[in-house]
Formats: sequence, structure tokens, C-alpha cells
Amino acid sequence: ALRVAGVKLAEHRISVTIVDFSGETVGESETAVRTRSQPLDALVGLIEDNVRAAAKQARIRPRDLAGIGIALPGYVDAMTGTAWWSPVLAEPEVNLTRLLEGRFPCPVFADNDANIATLAELWFGLGQGVRNFTVVTVEHGVGMGMVLDGRIRRGARGLGAELGHMKVALDGAPCRCGQRGCLEAYVADYALLRRASPILPDIDLADPARRREGLAALTTLAHQGSAEANAIFREAAAMLGLGMANLVNIVDPGMIILSGTRFRNELLFSDIMAKTLKENSIPFGPPGPEIRTHVWGDLLWTRGAAALALEGLFDDTLFG
Ligand code: BGC
Ligand code: NA
Ligand code: ZN
Repeated sequence: ALRVAGVKLAEHRISVTIVDFSGETVGESETAVRTRSQPLDALVGLIEDNVRAAAKQARIRPRDLAGIGIALPGYVDAMTGTAWWSPVLAEPEVNLTRLLEGRFPCPVFADNDANIATLAELWFGLGQGVRNFTVVTVEHGVGMGMVLDGRIRRGARGLGAELGHMKVALDGAPCRCGQRGCLEAYVADYALLRRASPILPDIDLADPARRREGLAALTTLAHQGSAEANAIFREAAAMLGLGMANLVNIVDPGMIILSGTRFRNELLFSDIMAKTLKENSIPFGPPGPEIRTHVWGDLLWTRGAAALALEGLFDDTLFG
């Protein structure tokens, strides 16, 4: 039977899922590690170890894997596997595909994590059979992917589909990409916590557990009626609605799938978001896209990475 491995690189974790052709999980492994602090060869070694451990759990030999897909945030060209910039890598211009290929006999593919979430929806989720849809992810960053005419689209350099870096303000808030005024600089976890620093002074943004606590504390403050906390969420919800309206006006998707645990938070996924979206979207023609939420947790990323491997194996027009 065919087995592929999906790898997700996050800021503080490497996770691997091995799935069969239907997307069923047959083996898993993960390591908690600050990915960005690892020298490249150590990081590649950890990816290899986790793939081997997941294969063991799946009761297959690593050489029986048909393909490996790697999901990581940032500007990744899936055609060549080059990550030009990623918040999980210490260096620019890293070709993980090439670095891993020597360690396994199967082909290795890499793509932007939100593109990969989009592939997961296309292959195994709400996007099955939908010809035009976009996926929006909100977690530590804001990401997206788009399927147009049934195919995932990445642009000429493979670096498009970056909702998080859509500009929503001129000379606006600083973003982790180095530019200013990006949507995620108002909406992502780090952006909310940065704005919350006057009311939550001792949150360490570099520590994921402390960040989760910080977000929970900010949510509680908002529910308790804190004007500052509510203002932060209101602005984030409006900015997200604005970004989604721009997405509608440019792409005209039939469906927008909102993915990521943040969409459980009704302060962000709110009436304000919906109102801003509606008021700024093309006001003519048939009704705009159906908006759906789908919160998969980590499976989303690793299954998507596996879907990338499947596409790479079975569809040679994928990257051309
Ligand atoms: C990155 C995107 C990524 C998103 C979600 C953003 O900060 O720039 O490439 O898809 O976070 O992880
Ligand atoms: Na993307
Ligand atoms: Zn940015």
C-alpha cells in the first residue's frame, strides 16, 4: 500500500504524520524544538529522525515511503523547494528538498504551510470538488492558499498567495517579514500580544506557552469588559474582514475556508469581521463566497504535506 510522510515545521515543533492514499494516519512523531535556533544540519537530522520514528510506528521501512512533503511558513517556492525566507529557519535561501533527498530514496517536496493546508482541504477536506476556493489560516501568522479552476495556484515565482503580507496600512505596524502595514501585524497572535503589552506587561513573545497564556488572559479580559482588550480584538477582527474583502475582490472565490484554532475565538471570528468583509467586498452580482470554518489542529498541516507528496508523485503538471 502507498504511504507518504507529511512534515510540518513550526516555530517550536517538528511534526510528522504518515498517511495512506485516503489520508488516514498510520504513524506519527514529533519533537518540541525551537526550529530557528537549530543549525541547518541539526534541523535536517531532526526531520529525518521524526520521519524514521513515524515510519516505525506505521510498521513500514523508511525506504518504503513513496514521498515526503514538508510544510513551512514563509516564502517557499514549491517548484524548486527553495525557502527564500522562513520564520522557522535560521538562514535565508534554504533548499530542504535537496538536503533531505540524500537521506531517503523517495522524492521530497516542500511548500508554504498555508498552501499545504489548502491542499489538505482540496484532497481530504471541505474543498473536495470545489473549483474555486481560498483557505485563510490564522495562528502565529496569517496565511492563505488558493485553488482556481481546480488547481492550487502559486504565481510566477511560487511566492504568491500571502494574505498575511497584504498591506492594510501605509507605514503601518511592523511585521515579522521586515515590512510594515501587513495584515498579520494586526491579526496574528504576536500582533495581538504586542498591542496588549500595556495591559499584559510580562508576556514573553518568544515563548509559545507564555503566548498561549497571554492570549487566554487577553480573551478573559475582553470577556470581563476591559475596553483595551476589546479594542484590540475589534481592530483585529476588522482588519481580518478587510483582508478577506480584498481577497474576495481579487480572487472571487466560491468559498473561503477559515482554518486554525483562532477561529474558535468569537472575538476575532466576529460580527465585526463579517460586517467589514461584507461592506468592502464587490457589492454587485450574485452573493459572495460561502464562509466556512474548519479547525483541524496539527493534522491539517501534516495531511496537507502528505497531499503535496501525492500531488508531486501523481501529477507531473503540478509544478509546471
Ligand atoms: C508567513 C506565511 C505563512 C503564515 C502561516 C506568515 O507569517 O509569512 O508564509 O503561511 O504565516 O504560518
Ligand atoms: Na500561501
Ligand atoms: Zn509582512
